[in-house]
Amino acid sequence: MQTSRIALIILSIIAISCQSEKKQKETIKIGNQQKEISAFDTGKKIFKGKGKCYTCHKIDKNSIGPSIHKIVEIYKEQDADLIAFLKQQAEPIVDPETYAVMKTNFAIIKTFSEEELKALEVYMTEVQK
Ligand code: HEC
Repeated sequence: MQTSRIALIILSIIAISCQSEKKQKETIKIGNQQKEISAFDTGKKIFKGKGKCYTCHKIDKNSIGPSIHKIVEIYKEQDADLIAFLKQQAEPIVDPETYAVMKTNFAIIKTFSEEELKALEVYMTEVQK
């Protein structure tokens, strides 16, 4: 039983350290109001709103496109640059065979600012469920 106890302790440590990952804050100017909202929230809003990403990317299951978790896992493994992909400066590495489907969304992605792309990356990397 000793080993399962050790495994439990290790799992707890991992869970705690994941939770304490700090969320990046950004100051966003809306009209003439300065408002502090996190990059995570901005990314979430774009992902589910004007970016239309959520139509094809669910969080942890594959649908029309691969799940966010799958994408992020592969990007971490290969130390790849998600923003470069969104800027069409890097080749697809997750599922090149269906890249044509993803490509239809670049017309929207092209209109995003550097901050918005960064926010999308933060959201995709940090989202849990
Ligand atoms: C019409 C469906 C569709 C929409 C909308 C869409 N995607 Fe995708 N996406 C896909 C498909 C299919 C793939 C798998 C092909 C590929 O790997 O490029 C993909 C792959 C990706 C990848 C992995 C690229 C790689 O290296 O292979 C990223 C990152 C991504 N999408 C981000 C986004 C973001 C961010 C948005 C919203 C701004 C978005 N997608 C909107 C269908 C879509």
